[in-house]
Amino acid sequence: MKAKHLIFLGPPGTGKGTQAQLLNDKFGWAAMSSGDILRAEVKAESKIGLAAHEYMRTGALVPDDIITGVILAGLERVAAGRGWILDGFPRTVPQAEALAAGLAKWKLPIDGVIYFNLPDATIIERIVTRRVCKECATTYNVRFSPPKAGDRCDRCGGAVIQREDDREEVIVKRLSTYRTQTAPLIEYYERQGLLRSVDASLAPATVHAAALELLARLDASA
Ligand code: AP5
Repeated sequence: MKAKHLIFLGPPGTGKGTQAQLLNDKFGWAAMSSGDILRAEVKAESKIGLAAHEYMRTGALVPDDIITGVILAGLERVAAGRGWILDGFPRTVPQAEALAAGLAKWKLPIDGVIYFNLPDATIIERIVTRRVCKECATTYNVRFSPPKAGDRCDRCGGAVIQREDDREEVIVKRLSTYRTQTAPLIEYYERQGLLRSVDASLAPATVHAAALELLARLDASA
């Protein structure tokens, strides 16, 4: 498979991070989760983290200039020729425009935007049962994929916890934020002929297989 530059788009809790990790495991493409990057900044109590925390805690988007600067700086550090997946960025049209401008400067294409399609009821169920490692951000689910050792991470042994924005009242706000500010990107990328959709309700391995099929088709049509 040729290295790809991908965007994962979709509501919270639809499995974007899970699938980005599977592609990272398989191909070594950099999986850049804007949420994980911001949570690391919050944990470090950096200037960015302090500015972002209140927005994240309440299910709002952090301001465009903050997240755009962080992601473009991260992309600049990815080795030339390596694939990458942007998980959770862009989330607004101005972010998408800033990304396009940055990539144009570096003469890098976006190969595809994968849209994760899942009904709200399933989204809420998956998020309230999600747990994450406090140290390495590996994602678990108490119903579908719990850590083997109870509340310790299989990868690094760190504590496995519930995210502070994974409470039902914040999830409802995150879904509404998604609808008003992020959903317009579906049409934005559709117009550019980049949008592909996966049925995110299927098992992780089945969604992964569907994503691989999509990517193979991108290679065939290139
Ligand atoms: P972020 O961390 O990006 O949260 P999100 O987009 O809301 O996405 P999630 O991490 O909730 O879900 P996911 O789709 O990755 O699903 P996952 O694989 O974990 O953002 C958090 C906050 O940061 C935002 O609210 C905002 O404040 C800020 N932020 C981030 N980016 C920003 C930006 N660009 N601009 C402004 N602000 C920004 O899966 C969910 C659960 O389901 C897990 O338990 C998993 O194990 C399970 N699961 C996954 N796939 C399956 C499956 N196929 N079947 C069954 N269970 C599954």
